[in-house]
Parts: sequence; C-alpha cells; structure tokens
Amino acid sequence: MERLDKFLSQCGIGTRSQVKPMLKAGQITVNGVVTRDGSVKIDPAASEIAFNGQILTGRRRVVIMLNKPEGYVTATEDAKEQTVMALLPREYAVQEVKPVGRLDKATEGLLLFTNDGELLHRLISPKNEVPKIYYARHTGQATAEDVSAFRQGLTLKDGTQCLSATLEPLGPGESRITVCEGKYHQVRRMMASRGMEVTYLERQQEGFLTLGGLDRGSVRELTQEEIALLDKSVKL
Ligand code: URA
Repeated sequence: MERLDKFLSQCGIGTRSQVKPMLKAGQITVNGVVTRDGSVKIDPAASEIAFNGQILTGRRRVVIMLNKPEGYVTATEDAKEQTVMALLPREYAVQEVKPVGRLDKATEGLLLFTNDGELLHRLISPKNEVPKIYYARHTGQATAEDVSAFRQGLTLKDGTQCLSATLEPLGPGESRITVCEGKYHQVRRMMASRGMEVTYLERQQEGFLTLGGLDRGSVRELTQEEIALLDKSVKL
C-alpha cells in the first residue's frame, strides 16, 4: 500500500505539491470514485487509478547515474545540440526519466536521472542542501582569501548571492569545490568572481553518491539500497 499522492507523482503527472490541486479539482478517481485526499493509501496493483478519466498504469521507479562526457547538453530535447538523452539506453526513454539538475555542455561527471518528479524536485532544491562536489582546473591559484570568500557566500559579478560553499585548493590551478545549490554556470561564475577561469570541470559526487568506477559515457541504475538512502537524504 502506498499514498495516493506519491503514486500520482511517480506516474509523472507532477510533483506532490502540483498533484494537490488536481486532487482538489476532482481530476483523480480511485476505482471510479473521485478522491480528493492525497494521503489515502492505495494498492496500485489492485486499484484502478485515473487522471481525467485516463487510467494510470504506474511506472517502475528508476534512478540512474551517467558519467557525462563533454559535448552533450543537459536537456531532454534540443534543436541543434546532442543531448544527454542520446547517451541513455532506449529503455530509459520509455521510462520517461529526466536529468536531475544540469551540467554544462563542457562539464563532465556525475549526472542523475529519475522518473520520480518529487525526488527530482527535492534533489535540486537548495532547501535540502544536497552537496555537489566538483573538481576544477583553472587559471591562477586559489588563496586563503578565496577560501574564506566562498565560505561566507560569494556575490557573483551580476550581483547574484550564493550560499556558503567550500573551496579546497589542491595544487597550482586545481581545486575542489562543494556547493549545495545549482545556479546556471554556478561553479564557473563563482570562480570567475574571484578572478579564476575554469578550464575543466567534473562533478565527482552528489550527496553520498560517487562515480565509483563508472566509465565516462556509461550509465548504471542505482540499487534499491542506494535509492532508499537517497530518499532518506531528502526526507522522502
Ligand atoms: N557549475 C558550472 O559552472 N557548470 C556545471 O556544469 C555545474 C556546476
């Protein structure tokens, strides 16, 4: 048995908060009866659940990890560029997975995909503070002042305020950067605000998940244990 709103969001019709007004509006039926309460427990295998009269069959919940190579844009479709979707086996397109956040075309490394809208929403929300760890090669050398500016929360060149982040200089022109949010070109712009240009960027970790031995360009499904831990990390 599971909550109706959870089942609906796993079917891909929206996040749990997006599903609420649909329930309220009487768009959801369980065995033909309009059901407005998302907290009711249902057995998807035994009940017929419909959205605007259309029966929802449910989907296997999947979370996958890609080791993204450079040269692909993070989008489900793009008129000009190759997207990360081209790197996934066809079965995952059928499962309607979507990328969790984005990596720039030139950025490599760990990119998650899921068909669970609520999990996706929670993983990218800065409220949940899921740390993302990047390895960067860059011009110049990060100093103690840069480390402290990152910790205090940088102001980008366009005035955007960033949350506190961690900068660890690894050697000349190399640093590890940990951020808990995902603004557009965030790491590149953070480094630029301190006068350093990022020349190479790889995401190595998201929450407790690391690339492990996953080859560049390869994909693997997370195990049920990893998915349970991921859920727990975002209070799902
Ligand atoms: N920050 C960036 O600047 N680019 C990415 O792809 C990810 C984080």
